[in-house]
Amino acid sequence: MEPRIAQKGPYLMELKAGTYYWCSCGHSQSQPFCSGSHTKLNTGMSPVETVIAKDTVVAWCGCKRTGAPPSCDSTHNDL
Ligand code: FES
Repeated sequence: MEPRIAQKGPYLMELKAGTYYWCSCGHSQSQPFCSGSHTKLNTGMSPVETVIAKDTVVAWCGCKRTGAPPSCDSTHNDL
């Protein structure tokens, strides 16, 4: 199963330090983070745990096809 394209571009967010779970399946209703939908839909995919050490701006991949999850690597430009 291919991941769903949630958005053809990154989610730019200012975040506090902490642990986040990036949705890799594209079905979360709370993008770019996991909502548990990957289990309900039996996607066979799992979120990517991401530890952010200090407050920063993150460009989370929205197309779910990045080669460097969970970060945007501009793959969306080729879709
Ligand atoms: S909802 Fe997409 S990985 Fe959990």
